[in-house]
Amino acid sequence: MADDLKKGLEGVLVAESDLSSIDGDAGRLIYRGYPIEALAAGASFEEVLYLLWYGHLPDEGELAAFTEAMAAERSVDPAILETVRSLADAGEEPMAALRTATSMLSATEPEGEADAEDLEASLRKGRRITAKIPTVLAAFERYRQGEEPLDPDPALGLAENFLYLFTGEQPDPVAAETFDQALILHADHGLNASTFTSMVIASTMADVYSAITGGIGALSGPLHGGANQDVMEVLIEIDESDLEPRNWVEQATEEGRRIPGFGHRVYNVKDPRAKILRERSAELAEEGDSKWYDITTTLEAYLTDEKGLPEKGIAPNVDFYSGSVYYQLGIPIDMYTPIFAMSRSGGWIAHVLEYQRDNRLIRPRARYTGPEEQAFVPLQER
Ligand code: CMC
Repeated sequence: MADDLKKGLEGVLVAESDLSSIDGDAGRLIYRGYPIEALAAGASFEEVLYLLWYGHLPDEGELAAFTEAMAAERSVDPAILETVRSLADAGEEPMAALRTATSMLSATEPEGEADAEDLEASLRKGRRITAKIPTVLAAFERYRQGEEPLDPDPALGLAENFLYLFTGEQPDPVAAETFDQALILHADHGLNASTFTSMVIASTMADVYSAITGGIGALSGPLHGGANQDVMEVLIEIDESDLEPRNWVEQATEEGRRIPGFGHRVYNVKDPRAKILRERSAELAEEGDSKWYDITTTLEAYLTDEKGLPEKGIAPNVDFYSGSVYYQLGIPIDMYTPIFAMSRSGGWIAHVLEYQRDNRLIRPRARYTGPEEQAFVPLQER
């Protein structure tokens, strides 16, 4: 065995993919060749899901049929909603409730869809999971507010319907558009930890439900999707402290503290998604309270130079501005990572199917560093 150990698999190529590509030096992200900026400005989240899953941007007829089919799959079995209710009542985290409910969704699978080797069936399953995640999350939120869930509205797009189910009100167009854009920006990002987790599970030819449930678990950690919640908690900490934001970040970096929402395994410059979300945050600040925008931009200015290049080695990633954008949309902080999962399920499913088309079991090795030989001592003699 070659002994070139790559801790954290940094820089290791394990698959070919047509789905998304990151240029970490140029700060460029594309989905199937389309720059993220163009998709965020011109497409809907459903168009992006179609692009990832079917390989091309849909025409009007294809999009209408796809959107209608997904909208028809939003309802969630009452037995699963009962579990969501009990988790909300028990004070469970929404990310844990989502993980549990996603796993349970396989029990409501229509007959004849069980074969994991039927990739067309796997895509249908994936589409159903993506359609139902917003319903699960909105139900969780309503239960913990002491309210009953609302019925999904098939006339609304995925983003707009989620905001409607979540708040009980028709979302204003700016909120719906901002939220839809945030979903587009989070949909795919190469072989990040959660996508790779889903692929590892799928490489055993396990089913899509197992792969997506595993992806949700991997995304929940603070080094990955959990960072968006940490960012908002830090912004609130700064706001409530006696320190000016600049002094806070100066002190935090001197103490060697990690600043959530900064740094990335692949980007050496500012994440292009953070640039787009910063613009959205600026727009929301103009309409309402500019406090969060001011704190975030001060932190960014301290950590990067005037060209946005990382002066202290780290630049903002997608999570840095998404937190304050969601906060300004009135979304509770512990929902930010579940919302990331709502979007990234699209990428997980696309990668799982792409990998299973030419599957090879993912099975790396570790360099053994334990003792080579020990004499076994029976339990009674130890
Ligand atoms: N604050 C302060 N210093 C940092 C940060 C940070 N946020 N991120 C990295 N560094 C420093 C780190 O201390 C290390 O310095 P040194 O070489 O002097 O020890 C250097 O940068 C390299 O860090 P690393 O941890 O070896 O790099 P990595 O590629 O393993 O980590 C990361 C990438 C995202 C885990 C890390 O940057 C981090 O912990 N960031 C904060 C959490 C975060 O924002 N996560 C979201 C990532 S992007 C979206 C997503 O994946 O969900």
